[in-house]
Amino acid sequence: MIKIKKLSKIFRTEEVETKALSEISLTINEGDFVSIMGPSGSGKSTLLNIIGLLDSASSGSYELLGQEMVGLKEKLKSKARKENIGFIFQNFNLIDELSVYDNIELPLIYNNVPSADRKKKVDEIAKILGISHRLKHYPQQLSGGQQQRVAVARALINDPKIILADEPTGNLDSKNGNEVMELLTDLHASGATILMVTHSDYDASFSQKTILMKDGVILSEKMNHRNVDVLVNNSIN
Ligand SMILES: Nc1ncnc2c1ncn2[C@@H]1O[C@H](COP(=O)(O)OP(=O)(O)O)[C@@H](O)[C@H]1O
Ligand SMILES: [Mg+2]
Repeated sequence: MIKIKKLSKIFRTEEVETKALSEISLTINEGDFVSIMGPSGSGKSTLLNIIGLLDSASSGSYELLGQEMVGLKEKLKSKARKENIGFIFQNFNLIDELSVYDNIELPLIYNNVPSADRKKKVDEIAKILGISHRLKHYPQQLSGGQQQRVAVARALINDPKIILADEPTGNLDSKNGNEVMELLTDLHASGATILMVTHSDYDASFSQKTILMKDGVILSEKMNHRNVDVLVNNSIN
């Protein structure tokens, strides 16, 4: 589903040059649930943003569903993003001026879904996530846990091929964080492909595989299967 080879990202400002990613190689298959850990500044968000087509690589290759994304025109990239990617952020990234309903509906409008279908879909996903009674509320009227549920609903509304989550429990207390992790685990069980950045060993334990990053490179890859704790150093591709 995702094939990354020797992907690098350099941020350049007038004075400094930061190599956020150094020749990263990584493969994500359909149905995988992979977590990424590592100290702050490791390049985790940069990698997720590139995979989510919110940012572009400086060099290397990123194939999404068999199509090369590096060097792709912005318009086509944006199309690929809308059709394939669901993004969940640490700070929820909801639009405060829009109701819960309108926040969840937005990706459907971007994808030109007719309005009758939009309402059906929003009602459906809201029911699944237990936020039907909050659709007329505004984000600021909700708890953090409820806001993240809305953000998850928004991420799922277009049936994305892959769900990207950047520290999805980072701003939640442990109870609400747990609920989000259970939600992701359920989604994975029903076939979703998930890539999640986290600082929490506990959250990472929900995933099948944990990738450890530092200073823009992948240090190791560890399977999380129960009773199987294998460390496979530098075995990625
Ligand atoms: N937009 C940007 N402009 C310049 N430097 C950036 C930008 N985004 C990230 N960086 C730098 O790239 C490195 C990796 O950042 P990031 O991917 O956010 O790390 P992490 O998510 O692992 O904490 C850091 O040194 C950070 O300062
Ligand atoms: Mg980050």
